[in-house]
Formats: sequence, C-alpha cells, structure tokens
Amino acid sequence: MNYAIILAAGKGSRLQNNTKAILPKQFFTYQGKPLWWHCVKAFEKSPLVHALVIVFHEDNYAFAQAQVEEYRADFSLPFILVKGGDSRQESVMNALKSLPSDCSIVAIHDAARPFIKTALITQYIDVLMKNDEISGVIPSLSISDTVKSVNNDFVLSTLPRENIKTVQTPQCFYKDIILNAHNKISENQINITDDAMAIEYIGGKILCVEGDVENKKITYIDDLKLLEQEEKMQTITTFGYDVHAYVEENHPKARPFKLATVPIISKHFLKAHSDGDVLLHALIDALLSLVSAGDIGTHFPDNSKEFENISSAILLDKTLAILLDRDSSLRLIHIDCTIIAQEPKIAPHTKLIQKTLANLLSLTVEQVSIKATTEEKLGFTGELKGIKVVCVVTANKNNRV
Ligand code: CTP
Ligand code: MG
Repeated sequence: MNYAIILAAGKGSRLQNNTKAILPKQFFTYQGKPLWWHCVKAFEKSPLVHALVIVFHEDNYAFAQAQVEEYRADFSLPFILVKGGDSRQESVMNALKSLPSDCSIVAIHDAARPFIKTALITQYIDVLMKNDEISGVIPSLSISDTVKSVNNDFVLSTLPRENIKTVQTPQCFYKDIILNAHNKISENQINITDDAMAIEYIGGKILCVEGDVENKKITYIDDLKLLEQEEKMQTITTFGYDVHAYVEENHPKARPFKLATVPIISKHFLKAHSDGDVLLHALIDALLSLVSAGDIGTHFPDNSKEFENISSAILLDKTLAILLDRDSSLRLIHIDCTIIAQEPKIAPHTKLIQKTLANLLSLTVEQVSIKATTEEKLGFTGELKGIKVVCVVTANKNNRV
C-alpha cells in the first residue's frame, strides 16, 4: 500500500505576519476550496496512492475536523487525521508513526503546494517503485540565476550552479527507511527543512527527478496572487450516439416512446432493456466521454436486472454523480442533440424536450439545443425500423492534470 501524508499543521508565520489572517495558509481557499483539499484531491486521483494521512495542528484541530467533515463526500480514498507538532519535522514524525505496517511507500507533501499535478505524483512514485537501489525520489528544479554564498550580505564565493537544485514536495520514500531516518534525526536533535535531509543523514541514495515550476509553495504574501489567478479552464467537446429499434406494443421488450423523459404518442414502441430513452442514452455517452469514463454499457449493463425498465433519468443522475466524482471542476456549457426519425413527428415536442432536458441538467434552455430531422425515407430510420439520436456536449474543466 502506498500512502500520502498531507502536511497541514504549520502556522504560516511568514505569511501571517503580513496578512493578519486568523487561519494559517493551508485553510486559505483556491477556487473555493481550502488548499489542503486540493492536495488531497490531487493525490486521490493517482492510481498509485491508496490512502492518506492528513496532519493538522492542535491549535486548529477542531476547525480542521469540521472542515474535513464538510468535504468528506468529495473524497473516496480512506484517510486518517493526525495531530502535527510545532515543527514540520515533528508533524512528519507523527504522521509516519501513524502509518500501518502494510504501508510500503509514502509520499510526503506540503499542503501549502495546492497546484500539485496528479500525473507528477504518479510519476514520482513510479520511479521509486522501479528503482530498488534508491531510498527516495524528490522533485527538483535547476537554477537559472547565479548563486552566491554570503555572510551578512558579503559575498564569500560563487557556487557551481550546475550542481545545485531547489527541491519541492511530494518527496517519496520507502516507509521503513524514512521512518528510521527521521528517528535518527530526532535522536540526534538535528534540524531539517525537508525529508530528504533525513535520508542524507543516514547515507541513503535519493534521486532528483524533474519538478514543476507551477508546483509553488504558498509562503510569502506575493504568492497569494497565485490563489487569485483566473481559473485555467479548458473547453472540451464530446459526442454520443444511440439507436433503438422500433417494435410492436406486444414485444416483451417494448417501451413506450419517450425522449428525455417526455412521453410522445406513437404507434412505434422502442425495444430496450431500460426504458429506451434514446436521447438520454446518447447524452449519457457524451457526458461519460467528458471524463473518458467509457460508455453507458460500462456503467449500466443491459443484462443487469438492476437496470431492467429503469428510468433513464435515474441513469442520467448516476452519470452526473460519476462526473462530479471524477472531476469536480467540470461545468456543462452546452448540449446539442439531433433526433433522427421518420416517424413520429418530433418537431411539435422539441420545445418541451429542450425545457425538460435543461431542468434535468440544471442548465438554462439557451444551453440546450434540440433538433429533429428525417433521413428522407432512406436507411433504417427511413424504413421505420428505428430511431437514432446524436448528441454533442461542450463543457469547461480545470486544466489541472
Ligand atoms: N507544516 C506542518 N507542521 C509544522 C510546520 C509546517 O505540517 N509544524 C507544514 C505546513 O502546513 C506546510 C508545509 O509543512 O504545508 C511546509 O511548511 P512551510 O511552508 O514552512 O509552512 P509553515 O511552517 O506553516 O509556514 P512558516 O514557515 O512561514 O511559518
Ligand atoms: Mg515553516
């Protein structure tokens, strides 16, 4: 099992002196959520992280606990809360001691680095798992400025820039090795500023991998600008397509004709395992594509008793829950559906379908477009064998990977 430790027990004194904020920086918000939340989310999404330890300080523990409760539904991985200490080192120690014996790798991360990307977390842990001769992997950046060693602002010497790197978190280690290293450090009362230093102390090998300039630590007042930045959104477009065959009313799988839950009088019945709401099915496929989560059959198999005759509006709700779970930053912008059928006549119903769909998706009617066409008596729709719906969904989502 791989664990992540999210360190959120600091006082943020370098910031607090300037801002007079009541709460330390890990509780500041970015895009409406506290910084520690963003870290937990980023780690949760990594397939190589299986559980988390979140560390808060005694001074604001009750507040932190209440906040964790408030956001509990956002998290799916198991996590425990641990009390930190007065130094970062103590906080790490408390968290390491709380890890169960089945924990092999631990990624230690500062809650003050909310821009950490999931893909990088996965990459760092993966590098560690593939190199058994190293004790830890740390993200690092090269320096572009010339670096001087100074004493009271007087230059002593120039350091060889090519041999110098600044380092970030998450730093990833084998749990037994980092725990042993931290034990040695505290026995000998050595002060350290990152966890790799503990491994250096016991002579372990640490590999520097490429860090990320965007993985900044909120430390000084100027860094707060990063939290105010416009959300970096990207717009994505996805497509869905579904077909249902027409059958007679007495067919065992015949379902009354409906589009987006709107019943339509028709002599044609739809052959389906669920309720045969072909429009919602095309829409669900397009929605699932927003998070590349397969298709309707993956989630609601048409051989499962659970979904027999089920209202597709329920499937739509379940789909929206999947989207929220996979990417809470997703915002639907527009839905464009074309219904292709020779019969029945759809045009008299498009306004109601538009309004109903807007309601189902909590969108305005302007964000939903419903069109209908025939195929000029050609093909299977023209031959009255069935109906098809195509659907294009446009959404915004946060650019974080
Ligand atoms: N941290 C911690 N326990 C401490 C001190 C620090 O868990 N006793 C955490 C912080 O919450 C932060 C991370 O370690 O996420 C990095 O530390 P730093 O940026 O130094 O944060 P603070 O110590 O809170 O800030 P400052 O040094 O300005 O007081
Ligand atoms: Mg500090």
